[in-house]
Amino acid sequence: MAGGSGTRLHPLTKSVNKHLLPIFDKPLIYYPLTTLILAGIQEFALVTSPIEVDNFRKLLGDGSQFGIEIRYVEQSKPAGIAQGLTLTKDFISGEKVGFILGDNLFHGIGLGRQLAEHQNVTGAHIFAYQVRNPESYGVVELGTSGEIIDLHEKPKSPPSDLAVTGLYFYDEEVSDLAASLIPSARGELEITDLNRMYLKKASLEMTVLSKGTAWLDTGTFEGLHDASSYIRIVEERQNSKIGDPFEAAQNQGWI
Ligand code: G1P
Repeated sequence: MAGGSGTRLHPLTKSVNKHLLPIFDKPLIYYPLTTLILAGIQEFALVTSPIEVDNFRKLLGDGSQFGIEIRYVEQSKPAGIAQGLTLTKDFISGEKVGFILGDNLFHGIGLGRQLAEHQNVTGAHIFAYQVRNPESYGVVELGTSGEIIDLHEKPKSPPSDLAVTGLYFYDEEVSDLAASLIPSARGELEITDLNRMYLKKASLEMTVLSKGTAWLDTGTFEGLHDASSYIRIVEERQNSKIGDPFEAAQNQGWI
């Protein structure tokens, strides 16, 4: 999902889509793409605005260089993250789907293997991460035995410090459920409302990502800068790449 207007990052994103901005030595979109490749996903639909789509095509083409297939789906207005799942209904066509927000950067040993287990999800599976500023995200509310009782989108008084990350696995029903969402007060189809539908049907599961996993925020100037520093430090120290779709595809044996 690489839509949105990126107003929080103006003027950086006035003429360049946020997901094409550099995170050290690669465009941001490479990182979530690599996460899904490591999860074993080979067929992709990239959702972005009609004026940006050619830039993504130029960068990623049809995906064959990574041994994957990428098709492009246009979102004419930034009408919410969950709209990505209705616009791709034909692509999803009754299959299970991994859904990632194009600005979410994950890094952790064994993460790909862990994610691959959810390819066969029943209902929905979300991933939470402990953060200092939960009010900036979707937040999980837990009951006394640690079960999810509700989800809140950017609550003023967060009920926990567990943020919902921008990585989701859904079953075959997802496009139909997303189509039944009504726009929120800010006029968007909210991914949190979609996840609440699964919760109401008692078919929402959650994994809390461990401390050993990094989930980096790229939604602010500071977050972008920190993410670049993080990638640079780890790549240079270990003399290896993070978020490299070529390397990930090679490890999968696809190229
Ligand atoms: C979106 C979701 C939010 C989630 C976040 C993760 O927020 O609405 O629930 O926690 O992505 O990156 P946004 O990027 O629109 O601020």
